[in-house]
Amino acid sequence: MTQNGLIDPHGGKLVNLLVDPERAALLKDIALNLPDITLNERQLCHFELLATGAFSPLQGFMKRIDYESVLDRMRLQSGDLWPLPICLDVPELKAQTLEVGQSVTIRDPEGFMLGVLHVEDIWPIEKEKEAASVYGTSDPTHPGVSYLFNKSGDYYVGGDLEAVSLPLHFDFRKLRQPPEDIRQAIHKLDWQRVVGFQTRRPIHRPQYEMTIKAMRKVRGNLLILPVVGLSRPGDFDHYTRVRCCRAIARRYPPDSHLLNLLPLASHQAGPKEALLHVIIAKNYGCTDFIIGHDHAGPGLDGNGQWFYHKGAAQSLAEEHTDDLGVNIIPFEEMVYLPFEDEFRTADRVPEEMQRISLSGSEIRDRLRTGRRIPEWMTFPDVVTELQKAYPPPFQQGFTVFMTGLSGAGKSTIAKILYSRFLEIGERPVTLLDGDIVRLNLSSNLSFSKEDRDINVRRIGFVASEITKNRGIAICAPIAPYKSTRSEIRARIENYGGFVEVHIATPLEVCEKRDRKGMYAKARAGLIKGFTGVDDPYERPQSAELEIDTTDLTPNEAVQEILLFLGDKGYI
Ligand code: PPS
Repeated sequence: MTQNGLIDPHGGKLVNLLVDPERAALLKDIALNLPDITLNERQLCHFELLATGAFSPLQGFMKRIDYESVLDRMRLQSGDLWPLPICLDVPELKAQTLEVGQSVTIRDPEGFMLGVLHVEDIWPIEKEKEAASVYGTSDPTHPGVSYLFNKSGDYYVGGDLEAVSLPLHFDFRKLRQPPEDIRQAIHKLDWQRVVGFQTRRPIHRPQYEMTIKAMRKVRGNLLILPVVGLSRPGDFDHYTRVRCCRAIARRYPPDSHLLNLLPLASHQAGPKEALLHVIIAKNYGCTDFIIGHDHAGPGLDGNGQWFYHKGAAQSLAEEHTDDLGVNIIPFEEMVYLPFEDEFRTADRVPEEMQRISLSGSEIRDRLRTGRRIPEWMTFPDVVTELQKAYPPPFQQGFTVFMTGLSGAGKSTIAKILYSRFLEIGERPVTLLDGDIVRLNLSSNLSFSKEDRDINVRRIGFVASEITKNRGIAICAPIAPYKSTRSEIRARIENYGGFVEVHIATPLEVCEKRDRKGMYAKARAGLIKGFTGVDDPYERPQSAELEIDTTDLTPNEAVQEILLFLGDKGYI
């Protein structure tokens, strides 16, 4: 099972697809005359794990025979256990320009050359089959399924890869070691058992206690692998997470652990994804691996049911321990006993004993709303790091996003609000009124659905940058479509507050005001596709505030918004 006291890589040999400098120079010359494939963010993560051997024994993006074998029996053609396809998807138009037997230059989105793929197969993706096999569902609310059907190309291109460079990273470079280097470090440190702990969340006290428990159980050391590939909406950004890991690292006994970043793009495929994580950890030299109840699962489906049942990931990995050669350590639920002032696994706590716990999302909510995070839950140095990213509301940036029909009163309210914020003078303020934006950012756009979406997304982008930099953005477009508004909300809430204010003045009132004479023109057919007349306005269902200005002065409307912001702690 072991070489030099180290666990064997999966498939027996650690792959390294990076070619030597001579070959790299030759490939760079040849590349000039080859067609290109530009990788997206997810494919870049796959490329990096392929090139460094974290996906050993894969030698490139999967060929059809391996792909089908993985879907049908969870094994590569060679017989090695492999749970998920690692494939390169391309749009149909691109696939039509490629030929089997040809080589293709692989580039990052800036055009930087990463390697050459020797194409051995090109085939159309059977998406239903893949969804059923990989995710066990075709439910479009599953993020992996949604990606497959809505974002993935329709063809796969498979073949061996030669890498000339890894994707460029400028952050935490010392913490981005390939499996070979981590294996060497483990060897030098003379560690016999290494527990792998992979996480996309900050490590709080329960996770810390769990890792200590696991290390004691197997008398081993620890490899912490924070995932820094694609993050999911609501995740802390990876800079914050890595700083938290570094803060917590000081709590472990000296020389008892290593920290290394994992550029993984998760499929969120639950149990099968957990198997992939075990394989990756094994390639980094782990003999043991911690798996949680809903490891790599996307949580709840549209009906509030778990996509994967509790413990499914642990059972699937345990079923394959012979194949994997890695010992699985189930992450048991850790609860805090306030009277004893200690953590224990839930199954060791008598029913009548008082216990408390806090979920990751409760911690995030506490941070956002400026409430205290108890010390029993997380270490103060981790809280300090989290607070840098998510300060209390009065230090956060925020966006006031007003939406409503033309003539509802958005612009007037926005202007008064703007001067009030300037009067307060605590933060920089930017006004993104519909008309101003159309003049400066979107002058070439019409009022078609597509163009309105582009216009509103642009406003959302600028507002998110302002919010990120702790300023105040006041937006006042019509923004008639619900899905675009939700998209913007999700983007901005990553950085600070988002307060949607529906200026809900009824159409009859707006039309009666008709300050710009637009309704009259629309009714006369001189303007086509006018919101509320012959183009829809989708009412917000859960705006933070709904203000009808029929019987309200603009100052009264502004007062309502300011009181709300004060109540939430923003001002
Ligand atoms: S959108 O839908 O969010 O992109 O609209 P927005 O950028 O806020 O622009 C709205 C202003 O443009 C004028 N206008 C129209 N509105 C709606 N539909 C059509 N077809 C249209 N054509 C021009 C209108 O006067 C809006 O101004 P406000 O300030 O809202 O009254």
